[in-house]
Amino acid sequence: MKGNSPSSAFDRSESAGKEFERELYVYVNGQLIEKDKACISVMDHGLLYGDGVFEGIRAYNGVVFRLREHIERLYDSANYIRLSIPLKKEHMIQAVLETLRKNRLRDAYIRLLITRGVGDLGLNPMNCKDSSIVIITEPAVPSTDPRSKSAGITAIISSIRRDPVDATSHEVKSLNYLNSILARWEAIEAGVNEAIMLDTQGFVSEATAENIFIVRGNAIATPSTDSAILHGVTRHAVIEIAQDLGYSVSERRITPFELLNAEEVFLTGTLAEIVPVLKINGRIIGSGKVGPVTARIYGEFSSMRARPSAGIQIYPDEQAELLASKQK
Ligand SMILES: Cc1ncc(COP(=O)(O)O)c(C=O)c1O
Repeated sequence: MKGNSPSSAFDRSESAGKEFERELYVYVNGQLIEKDKACISVMDHGLLYGDGVFEGIRAYNGVVFRLREHIERLYDSANYIRLSIPLKKEHMIQAVLETLRKNRLRDAYIRLLITRGVGDLGLNPMNCKDSSIVIITEPAVPSTDPRSKSAGITAIISSIRRDPVDATSHEVKSLNYLNSILARWEAIEAGVNEAIMLDTQGFVSEATAENIFIVRGNAIATPSTDSAILHGVTRHAVIEIAQDLGYSVSERRITPFELLNAEEVFLTGTLAEIVPVLKINGRIIGSGKVGPVTARIYGEFSSMRARPSAGIQIYPDEQAELLASKQK
């Protein structure tokens, strides 16, 4: 928490870095460089124009959660902005794993960025010859803000709207997060933890770095693509979990009226995982306590996220050894 402002449910603990004394390495264009020496040019269009794409990924107990899905989204975002990535997807996966191994991490937060690369001060992307790849890995923050999982969070509906399809598409996870940042300012000033943004037609879209779900009875709903959402990897996992648990899940437009009258509301995101929202714009949501559906889905999510089948293993030999020792 900075100053007296309420912490978002999803800010990385500020102490995480301090507890971890050993030198970390960052992947920059094929090289692993000590973190405090790793840098890219001030002439990179990622900095000059926000011209680039990124992913935020988690590893749990040696398994990188849904890494292939993140890589797919990264390449789709890059393709949309006509940014060519000089590595094949499989090699990108290996670069992520290599960085984690170099840093001897099992529980980690991974930030993977592709920028347009070095150009001149003009906008022309053709002047950027080579895109830059940066992979930062850090020890994971145990569970973001522990308060939020057990106690839930408060939110406002922000005045800032998500970009529509005909603007800079909301589906691109680009280096421009200004609408989320402005919405987060509103939350801070309102003294709540999070801001929920609407699309340009006034339907519920998502929070500043999380997707949103509402629950009423046995029915779960989450805004559909046409409500200006990012296709969240956690959102997808939660839809699968909820369906497996027998809930009906619909992806559709949701009005602010439905949001404020839901029995349960929760957010999903790589860093946030699953976080209940208990108060929005001063209205108590449902019972005002973490609801049974949210708790059940979170329970399932926490047991599945570190299974080898949930992603790609960082240290595959370790798993083979474990299997061999079990068979003895
Ligand atoms: C704007 C936005 N929406 C939703 C999400 C949730 O996506 P994911 O579950 O893939 O982390 C994120 C997280 O990066 C985000 O930045």
